[in-house]
Amino acid sequence: MNVLVIGNGGREHAVIAALAKSPKVNKIYAMKGNAGIAQLAELVNVDYCDVKAVGEWVDQKGDIDFTVVTPDDPLALGLVDELESRGHRAFGPNKNAAIIEASKAFSKELMKKYNIPTAKYETFSSYEEAARYVETCDIPVVLKADGLALGKGVLICKTRQEAQDGLKEMMLDKKFGSAGNKVVVEEFLEGPEVSCLAFTDGKTIKPMITSCDHKRAKDNDEGLNTGGMGTFSPAPFFGEKSAEEVMEKIMKPTVYAMNAENRTFKGVLYFGLMKTKDGYKVIEYNSRFGDPETQVILPMLKTDLMEIFEAVVDERLDEVNIEWEEGACVCLVLASGGYPEKYEKGKEIVFGDLDKDVTVYHAGTAEKDGKIVTSGGRVLGVVAKGKDVEEARKKAYANAEKISFDGMYFRKDIGVKYRNIEKE
Ligand code: AMP
Ligand code: GLY
Repeated sequence: MNVLVIGNGGREHAVIAALAKSPKVNKIYAMKGNAGIAQLAELVNVDYCDVKAVGEWVDQKGDIDFTVVTPDDPLALGLVDELESRGHRAFGPNKNAAIIEASKAFSKELMKKYNIPTAKYETFSSYEEAARYVETCDIPVVLKADGLALGKGVLICKTRQEAQDGLKEMMLDKKFGSAGNKVVVEEFLEGPEVSCLAFTDGKTIKPMITSCDHKRAKDNDEGLNTGGMGTFSPAPFFGEKSAEEVMEKIMKPTVYAMNAENRTFKGVLYFGLMKTKDGYKVIEYNSRFGDPETQVILPMLKTDLMEIFEAVVDERLDEVNIEWEEGACVCLVLASGGYPEKYEKGKEIVFGDLDKDVTVYHAGTAEKDGKIVTSGGRVLGVVAKGKDVEEARKKAYANAEKISFDGMYFRKDIGVKYRNIEKE
């Protein structure tokens, strides 16, 4: 099969690396890809948020058998619907299901309606009403821009003043553009976080191995929220009891709720969860693979990813037995100085002599005059496996030290958190 993969980050590099191992896959195209992906796929320079243009390209190309849509924005814009309407097979939720990520107001209402555990909240379209509410609600409080904001539209406010300033930024100054037209004001929850991703065809749910992200830019979870500065798998506190609770109270009710709303979800459903003293609660849904979660999940997948993708599209996921390697995996993100705020691009990357069993997934890289240069905030993900998280993280750090570019920074504490929490 010839497969087109939409996207250009570390996540897409990991997806493409897994597909490249499949005996079913003949040739891979990546729209738009990056310098690392270029080693495995032919790059296609079409704006993937222009869903019509993508549909036309696939039509004209004529030999694309399957398209994998990974990023949130083309999913929310209906790229899968566009491809299906032209008679092509595509992996990813339809537009009416991708809303589970694209609108926090939608997902919060869904959880309320179907009794899916989540933080208490109020939604506001009026700045004045939101400002009044924030004067009396419990503190800390969490503000979330309704729309897509690259994982950055969430503010944890420790004082009333911070909350008022945050509301102004979101609703009046439009710091996150139209994503801030509506704002969800949410109860602050505490506990360890886990990313639980699952394949689903709307009938069967097959969870992947768990992972933990590090969203803040700085060590000890300080600094601004980012797209993710590193991940490890599995979550040390997530045992069988957790898996059962999450499946019964969160995963099944969510997939069935989407069916009941005539928004059947087919693809990867990402449950961002917090283990609170009252059990697991949903912090967010994503309608896709996580980034950088995918970089620690797919290297552990033993089953052919193409076979899983096809089974989801054909609604026969129950027939596939998905197997995972034992052990642990760590991904350390190397970022551009200044990210998630302003940063420079075009810095040459020097790769040292890396261990053979370490993988570097490219995120924001490009090729320029035969050299690999930075082209984004998150530049590379250094991925290592080990018998446990500690062994994997040591290997990832040792190899990260061999890579350099001007302004490069990374967190020093990826994979350290949660190790003392009891597993259950
Ligand atoms: P989100 O984009 O919704 O995943 O939020 C980004 C991060 O903000 C999460 O990973 C949490 O660490 C934090 N966060 C979001 N909602 C809450 C909440 N209600 N209470 C505490 N922390 C939260
Ligand atoms: N790593 C979080 C996300 O993909 O949204």
